[in-house]
Amino acid sequence: MLLTEIGKKYNTDKATYHNFTWIYEKLFSELKDSVNKILEIGTYRGGSIRMWREYFPNAIIHGADLKPEYGVSGERIVFHLVDQGSRVSLEASIPNEEFDIIIDDGSHQNDHQMTTLSCLFDRVKSGGFYIIEDVHAGTETRRAFCRFLMDNEFKTELLSDGECERIQSEINDVTFFFNRCPGISIVNGDSKTLILRKR
Ligand SMILES: C[S@@+](CC[C@H](N)C(=O)[O-])C[C@H]1O[C@@H](n2cnc3c(N)ncnc32)[C@H](O)[C@@H]1O
Repeated sequence: MLLTEIGKKYNTDKATYHNFTWIYEKLFSELKDSVNKILEIGTYRGGSIRMWREYFPNAIIHGADLKPEYGVSGERIVFHLVDQGSRVSLEASIPNEEFDIIIDDGSHQNDHQMTTLSCLFDRVKSGGFYIIEDVHAGTETRRAFCRFLMDNEFKTELLSDGECERIQSEINDVTFFFNRCPGISIVNGDSKTLILRKR
């Protein structure tokens, strides 16, 4: 089944309002069987966690959220209670293991997105994906990566120069996906997701 259909079945807005699943299908369809570990920050009612579990039959799906009531559980699902705005919490709660894919669909605050990227980018496998969803919320994450695309330098006031240099040295490529393209798809909202490929 296509990722969008699975996403609709489990009621994640990645498959409806945000319209991100068709680009993820393009990225991940050939990796379905080989992906073995995913982390998603922001579980809410577990829709996307269950979607990933069904789409990647051999993967353990780690979900993390600030709120214990969103503690999704089940076969091949592991939940971590975390505040992604806190380095201490991220270091303590997220296993120090390598993930094929990390998705940040948590608070969408730019300072949280950068803190989480700084703490967790090292945990993406070489050639793996780090995705920051909904970068239309706020401007700094978008600005910093647009700048990176223009002049190959990653710099943001939200991280130290040393952190920026480390992240920059680990990026293979950067793609922005816009869910609404004239003549292609008209859906609610105007969502953007940022896809980093690790070196
Ligand atoms: C957009 S919802 C996630 C939707 C889910 N990924 C899906 O597609 O079905 C955002 C989630 O982020 C969580 N969240 C908000 N602030 C957070 C933080 N500081 N740390 C971790 N999770 C947070 C919220 O509790 C909420 O469950």
